[in-house]
Amino acid sequence: MTETISVTSPYDGRQVGEVPRHGDDDIDRAVDRAAQLHRRGALPAHERAAVLDRAAAAIEGDPDRFARIICDEAAKPISTARTEVARAIDTFRFSAAAARTVAGELVPMDASSAGEGKLGLVMRVPRGVVVGISPFNFPLNLVAHKVAPAIAAGCPIILKPATATPLTALELARLLGECGLPEGWLQVLTVRGSDTNRLVEHPDVAMITFTGSPDVGWAIRERVPRKEVGLELGNNTPVIVEPGVDVDAVAAALAVAGNGFAGQSCISVQRIYAHAEVADRLTDALVREVDALVVGDPSDDATQVSALIDEGEAERVAGWVDEAAQAGATVCTGASRDGAVLRPTVLSGITPAMKVSAREVFGPVVGVATYTDLEEAMARANDTVYGLQAGIFTPDLDVALRAARTLDFGAVVVNEVPTFRTDQMPYGGVRDSGNTREGPAYAVEDMTERRLVVIDRPL
Ligand code: SIN
Repeated sequence: MTETISVTSPYDGRQVGEVPRHGDDDIDRAVDRAAQLHRRGALPAHERAAVLDRAAAAIEGDPDRFARIICDEAAKPISTARTEVARAIDTFRFSAAAARTVAGELVPMDASSAGEGKLGLVMRVPRGVVVGISPFNFPLNLVAHKVAPAIAAGCPIILKPATATPLTALELARLLGECGLPEGWLQVLTVRGSDTNRLVEHPDVAMITFTGSPDVGWAIRERVPRKEVGLELGNNTPVIVEPGVDVDAVAAALAVAGNGFAGQSCISVQRIYAHAEVADRLTDALVREVDALVVGDPSDDATQVSALIDEGEAERVAGWVDEAAQAGATVCTGASRDGAVLRPTVLSGITPAMKVSAREVFGPVVGVATYTDLEEAMARANDTVYGLQAGIFTPDLDVALRAARTLDFGAVVVNEVPTFRTDQMPYGGVRDSGNTREGPAYAVEDMTERRLVVIDRPL
């Protein structure tokens, strides 16, 4: 009998699906098939682009086909799930554009005397079989960021979705088949994380693109140092709030940015550095806004925050909040837990040693610390192993530019929450947060290899 993995709603424990637990033989078969397709060669770019455009249109035509599955398997509030679906449509469209425009370059051969009379072209050729490993927090759009650029680049892709949320990925594979993606170019393997080594180590796999936790990501990189490994990892997202801004508006934005999908985004606002002139007003407004968030059943249109991915995660996050309180932070609101649902929490007086500051919370918790000197605030924001996105709210252009130069992150977002992302952006981090940039045009670059062709006159 085939072993299976049961998929349950994190909110109410209902079984919402069951998938096979793929094993070593399935992995070997999938890689063999993908490698054969790669050897045979990809569809022409215009056909790959057409598949991607058709997929975008098909998702757009029936957005709830995906939003409901995301809501069921991830407990993502349905309105947030719809936003994710809208973003995935963009991801497919940007990938179609990348498929149509990926191009090489000309090398100025006559810049050296030996090159005179020769033509040097750099072609971009598909790198080979890609393995995409995606997390539970965006079961559609972070899958789309692996799958759609691979199709655009002409690479067969084997996708390993998070074990908690495989149903959306499987539905996407069905949709791509309906949209004309030839069989085998996307294969979804529902393997447990512990069984993934065989897949990444397989000699016929050329590239791994991974989104998830830094420990797992960097371990993959060390396991296969000769392969192309793209890592998009965590963050403990800081934001600085300078005087002179509309404190109520900033607080409203931060409340949502710290708690959307229960804080389970790599760029959820986590550390807020508030100037002493605005800190009290900001904290009060933040508490008001956070208390007003609707917490509950993810299938309810009004819900803004629901369960974390499982009860163990909610317990862990609640434990970090308790530890911070014992170490001197003030719990301004939240912190109560009912199963996997943790009430959105605001802490003040966080210090760098607390886990809620130093590590990635990945839960509905924001912490406020006060500063008086901008240089000190930026140094505290930078004092982390992570480096994905950071933000600053300021009315002063000079301050904004100083922050852009000083904050050591993959992106610095000014006068918008650092949770902001649109899907064409080059998205990725420095230091422990990763080594790559996603966004279809950038991912296609990673998924293609440069091949130099030098042409001379026939002899
Ligand atoms: C992530 O969690 O890294 C993805 C965030 C996003 O796409 O908004």
